[in-house]
This record gives sequence, C-alpha cells and structure tokens, in this order.
Amino acid sequence: MKQWVESDDGSYTAYSSEYDEHYHSTKDGALNESLKKHIEPAFTLLREKDHIRLIDICFGLGFNTLLSLYYRDTYYPDTTLEIYSPELDGDLVASLVDFPYPEIFEPYRNIITDLATLGGYEDERTQITVEIIDARKGVGELEGIWDVWYQDAFSPAVNPILWTREFFADAARLLGEEGVLTTYSTALATRLALYENGFGVYLNRGEGYRNATIASRRNLEDIEKVDMEHKIACNPQALPLMDEIQEL
Ligand SMILES: C[S@@+](CC[C@H](N)C(=O)[O-])C[C@H]1O[C@@H](n2cnc3c(N)ncnc32)[C@H](O)[C@@H]1O
Repeated sequence: MKQWVESDDGSYTAYSSEYDEHYHSTKDGALNESLKKHIEPAFTLLREKDHIRLIDICFGLGFNTLLSLYYRDTYYPDTTLEIYSPELDGDLVASLVDFPYPEIFEPYRNIITDLATLGGYEDERTQITVEIIDARKGVGELEGIWDVWYQDAFSPAVNPILWTREFFADAARLLGEEGVLTTYSTALATRLALYENGFGVYLNRGEGYRNATIASRRNLEDIEKVDMEHKIACNPQALPLMDEIQEL
C-alpha cells in the first residue's frame, strides 16, 4: 500500500506500509534530498565527463533519474547520460504516470510515460533502462565501468540485503577506480561495508539537509574524508552488514 505524502520542501513523496518508511526524508524534502545527497555531488565530481553512466538503486518514484536529466539539461546540456535503474515493484513504476511530480519534471512527462509503460527511453543524448528485477540480480549481471551509483534503497534496518558488503562488492566492481557512490546513510555499518571494499568514505554535509555519505576509490579533494581507522578503533565490535548477517 502506498500513499502520496507532501514533504517539507513542497514536493510529494510516498509512504510504504510494507517497509513502514517514506521514499524520501519528509524533513529534508523529496526533491531537496535527491538534489543535495545524490545529484549535485555526483555531477560536480564528474563535471569533466562528456558521457556519464549512472546506476540508480532503486528507481522508486524516479526522483534521482528525473533530477539527473533536469540537472544535465540545465547545467551540462552537451553531456550524454546512460542510466540503469533496477526496481522490484512493477506496479509502482506503472503507476507513476499519475504521480504529482514537481513542476520542474513537467518537460519529462513523455519520458515518465515511456519508463512507466515500456521500461525504457532513448534519444540522442539519453538512454534510460528501468528494469523490474531484484537489484541484487540486476547489478550482478551488469558489466563495464560506470561513473555513479546512487545508493537510495529503503534503510539498512528494513532493507538490509541492499546494504551488505557483498552488494557493495558489485558497486566496487562496477565503479572501478574513478566512480562515485552517493547515499543518505551515515550508518557505521554502511560505511564499513564500503570501506572494506576499498572505498574512501567522505562526509556530505551542508545547509538544509541531514548529513550524508559519498564514497569513491579515488581521492576526492575538497570533501571531508571520514577517518575510518579511527572509527574502527573507537567501535571495535562494529561490523558491516553481510549477506549472512543482516542485523544492525
Ligand atoms: C527509498 S525507495 C527509492 C526512492 C527512489 N530512489 C526515488 O528517488 O524515488 C526504495 C525502493 O527500493 C525498492 N526495492 C526494495 N527492495 C528491492 C530489491 N531487492 N530490488 C529492487 N528494488 C527494491 C522498493 O520497491 C522502493 O521502490
């Protein structure tokens, strides 16, 4: 069961009774959260690239995919975008033709309809695939090197299988040495799962939203690095989530 809910920046998100969680932070605002925790940091870090390959975990209401289009069109119109987004809930995706999206997504109504009804969209500058599949299987089968991984599943407490060390091993494989992962989670277990896959862990902090995390194997200048060795020394019992141990 899903209900549309207005969040604090005026944009609508949804509430899932199955997971007992909203699709976005209602306090940070759905659009604001997507912008500050995912789209802005990713595009800023990849501003030199003229083709960006993006993995969006998981599609949900599609804010991260749609805002990536908006951000590209507004600030980097010459950049081509390729997006792969897995999503388990086919009924949700099909229902999005009627979702009360923010005004800035109006130009993308035809794209939303194609994604909701055909599972994909393509033009000269854009290729999007929304696959109705378990994300573990979807990314497990994905190949090549990608630039961005938006990690935006429901929280580790209710959806642990998408936050394990093994899942982030796929992120490490697909992002290579240069790619960037963004997530709202600041949980030590999440950061450990990333760190143990060779990612450097960075703090995404700013006005108007709660702290978030950026991870990459390359050195991200000008972003505050989290001292993981210190965190581990202070919390010697802490463990990442693992496929066989999914309790925080
Ligand atoms: C927090 S919402 C994603 C919000 C989305 N990024 C947005 O901007 O609207 C989490 C989504 O993960 C989906 N999901 C949960 N488990 C999944 C799995 N194993 N594989 C694929 N999708 C999954 C849920 O159906 C839900 O749509």
